Amino acid sequence: MRRRVPRPADILPLIGTPDRSKSRLQRRLERCASVWDVRELARKRVPKAVFDYTDGAAMSESSLDRSRDAYRRVEFTPRVMRDVAEVDMGIEVLGRPNALPFILAPTGFTRMMQSVGEPAVARVAAEAGIAYGLSTLGTTSIERLAQESPDTRRWFQLYVSRERERAEDLMRRAQASGFDALILTVDTAVGGIRRREVRNGLTIPPRLRLSTMAEMATHPRWWFDVLTTEPLTFASLDSTGGTVGDLLTRIFDPGITGADIAWIRSNWAGKVVVKGIQSVEDATACADLGVDAIVLSNHGGRQADMGNVPLEILPQVAVEVGDRTEVYIDGGIMSGTDIVAALAFGARGVLVGRAYLYGLMAGGEDGVRRVVDILAKEVRTTMQLIGAPTIEEVRSAAVRLR
Ligand SMILES: Cc1cc2nc3c(=O)[nH]c(=O)nc-3n(C[C@H](O)[C@H](O)[C@H](O)COP(=O)(O)O)c2cc1C
Repeated sequence: MRRRVPRPADILPLIGTPDRSKSRLQRRLERCASVWDVRELARKRVPKAVFDYTDGAAMSESSLDRSRDAYRRVEFTPRVMRDVAEVDMGIEVLGRPNALPFILAPTGFTRMMQSVGEPAVARVAAEAGIAYGLSTLGTTSIERLAQESPDTRRWFQLYVSRERERAEDLMRRAQASGFDALILTVDTAVGGIRRREVRNGLTIPPRLRLSTMAEMATHPRWWFDVLTTEPLTFASLDSTGGTVGDLLTRIFDPGITGADIAWIRSNWAGKVVVKGIQSVEDATACADLGVDAIVLSNHGGRQADMGNVPLEILPQVAVEVGDRTEVYIDGGIMSGTDIVAALAFGARGVLVGRAYLYGLMAGGEDGVRRVVDILAKEVRTTMQLIGAPTIEEVRSAAVRLR
């Protein structure tokens, strides 16, 4: 073979130039090929205590690890030679369409990840045509979220405190601000023991200490963001101090029972979703109480350690109560394929928490958008490759856990 010396005119067109219309951060986000990559970028961009608060789970973290592991054990039997040119990823939840089969889960202290916080997440949800849940532990008020993101389908997540009037007030305000569903979280009788928070000395709000000062030098961008924007406080609570676990234990009512659903109904005219169901028995009890939906969830492994795996009980729950109440699932979802698997096992919809928070830490609103784009693309591609162009067909796809 005869070789020749390459000429500059041959080489120059091969050298890619960065797209200057995009910021350096946007380009970095585009190079993230998965939610796991976004997680790694997030790790670099925020202090360790903040990353650990988001990424961590309770005690040995086995509840979270096992949920993630369960998705690795999923096995589809892809069907081919089906027309998958047109794909419809939409589902209907609580009587309204959701353009993608997932919902952005309620998460506390969201502005700690990046000051743009909940309004940024809600705006991305609106663009994607999906619902978003604002937490009682949110750092943006009910009214402000409604104002900043009027087009988002907003759900309000309620933690019931010992003083019931406080919860009644929150329900009244959420209703007045156009939130159409209430998510009652029931897996938090007390706060889970989150060892990373204890080790890192993370308190809510974060305190400046000598060791944090050293951290400031390594994450000046995050500290600048926090110190030059509105102070970080809970928008719906005035109790602060201690780790999140301590805080939950101090303010939440460990005496909640099924009887409280009637109290919720007398204060809330919209749909009621109960989140934190971990057994077939409790799923049945909720269906008997007439709740509109349940979320099979162990709070992303942040509460009970060594809990069972929601995905493993999903098929039985879907069969037993799926015709009486909508069944959603969350915990450990890191890819669009995980989402498709949950739907194939019988979930009506899926909630994602950490995935979008990694996006928020990595790149604010653009980061959340990148995560939603990655998940949507992975859902679409998985649906096409297993031969199920609609969610109805995904629900009858052949799938098993190995
Ligand atoms: C940082 C963080 C804060 C959370 N805060 C709340 C909360 O305030 N209320 C609630 O009901 N669930 C909360 N959750 C749980 C999520 O709603 C959801 O159940 C969980 O994140 C799903 O697991 P995943 O993160 O693996 O997707 C939180 C989760 C995380 C990661």
